[in-house]
Amino acid sequence: MTLRRPALTRRGFLTRLAAIGGAGAVYHGLTTLGLLAVPPAYAGIPAYPATIGQGRRVVILGAGMAGLTAALLLSRAGFGVKVIEANRHIGGRSLTVRPGDSYAETGRPALTCAFDDGLYLNAGPGRIPHNHTAVLEYCRELGVAMEPYIFASRANLLQSDKAFGGDPVQLRRIKYELHGQLAEMLAKVPDPAALDGSLGAGDRAAFLEMLSQFGALQRQGDGLAYRGSNRSGYAVLPGAGRNPGSLWPELDLKSLLDSDFWKNGLFNDATDFWQTSLMQPTGGMDMIVRGLLRAAIPGGRTVRDLVVTESPVAEVANTATGVRVGHAKGSETADFCISTMAPSLLAKVKNNFTPAYANALGRIVDAAAFKLGWQATRRFWEQDDDIYGGISWTDHPIRQIWYPSDGFFAGTGVLTGAYNNGAVAESFGRLSHEERVALALEGGEKLHPGFSNWVHRDRALSIAWHNMPHFAGGWQDNPPEADRDAYFRLTVPEGNVMLAGDFLSYWWGWKEGAVRSADLAVEAIVARTSQAVATRL
Ligand code: ALA
Repeated sequence: MTLRRPALTRRGFLTRLAAIGGAGAVYHGLTTLGLLAVPPAYAGIPAYPATIGQGRRVVILGAGMAGLTAALLLSRAGFGVKVIEANRHIGGRSLTVRPGDSYAETGRPALTCAFDDGLYLNAGPGRIPHNHTAVLEYCRELGVAMEPYIFASRANLLQSDKAFGGDPVQLRRIKYELHGQLAEMLAKVPDPAALDGSLGAGDRAAFLEMLSQFGALQRQGDGLAYRGSNRSGYAVLPGAGRNPGSLWPELDLKSLLDSDFWKNGLFNDATDFWQTSLMQPTGGMDMIVRGLLRAAIPGGRTVRDLVVTESPVAEVANTATGVRVGHAKGSETADFCISTMAPSLLAKVKNNFTPAYANALGRIVDAAAFKLGWQATRRFWEQDDDIYGGISWTDHPIRQIWYPSDGFFAGTGVLTGAYNNGAVAESFGRLSHEERVALALEGGEKLHPGFSNWVHRDRALSIAWHNMPHFAGGWQDNPPEADRDAYFRLTVPEGNVMLAGDFLSYWWGWKEGAVRSADLAVEAIVARTSQAVATRL
């Protein structure tokens, strides 16, 4: 007699794998079956033969992340490199403002940082997700120290004028009330198989147990009910002796829906790039720029030696042999140009681009972005609200307050007291600095009544990136899918001009996009150079 083996289905195969080898084995099984794409690991900072660029010149427009990254790679590959920066500040949007630093929006008085020594505001980017493998690899290789950036604490607050009398409510309360109430509703479904065809009668017990775990449900008669849970936190914290504490009362679903918290704040930490863990460079975001600037390149020099500052670009032209770039401090001829300028700004520079290319440049949309920073007189968020890092959210135009991820228990600290984009940022941008401060105080009061007493209003810093000279906005609002024709046109070099910057990546608005697009632009130049060398041989 022969034993009949049931045919091994994919599902059966994976179930067996799980029994034998656990989740790891299943993962490898899935990848072997071609059912899971393995994210390609970042292979490290690209390294090219040190002589490949000998005798060739590249001029780079912009000394931000993309420009400096490209400068490092190209000079290590033997190219002659010059970086032309319009501003005095090197680093682009990586602007960390420290005591004594000044900056000015176009046509406005300069603001000078008057924080206590040792404090700073990351006026541009402030966080790096753990899956931004390229930028993290550069940090590792450049010796840039990183520390945790806390995106979300369950003690953070949500505030809406539309619900709960406008009072701020702890995020843990909202989140876990919602878990509990949704789980209870689903537990009442008599036949889960009716919801998902893959479930059978035999799955009902597991389904209900899963719901109990998800929502902290309790048995009630024959069913399961949500009757509150310590996940939602305590109105009175438990102590010693006869103090068991008391849980918050339940919140009603109608108010939760009215609050709109589910639109803004409640689920933000589920977005892939805001999931734990995130990082920040210890001492300020510009530490990455400093790491790039001090990186050694051939000839006993550093990347810093390649940068010309305060020299806005006036012309970019393809020529028969390469490119010509005119700028305030001179004129360059080179084999290639990498522009990291905002596309809308490059389009305004005198050029001889084809109409299709010029049109694509003009179609990339700039996003207004606004930030405001406070120095606190006391760490009231820690002392009064048990908040250590993370972000509180409000429907007031400030939209959010970031608490420092470091310096716990210090007497003071810097709060990001407003961060928004789009139309709200544009309206902040139209206000004077003093009006912005007054509006941001109002938003702070919504989240923390008494706020105005605990921040130095005369030390506040505000920045509307769309008003900053030689910037078009906080970033380019440029999902490649939004305008595929424009995006893909710009990925192709225009003669000897190529682009790099976060806008030319699937990580728009992130350093990761800047670094990866710079890697690609350099790869294209190296490829064209190698072809030319091979043809000559
Ligand atoms: N990457 C930017 C942020 O995290 C846009 O807010």
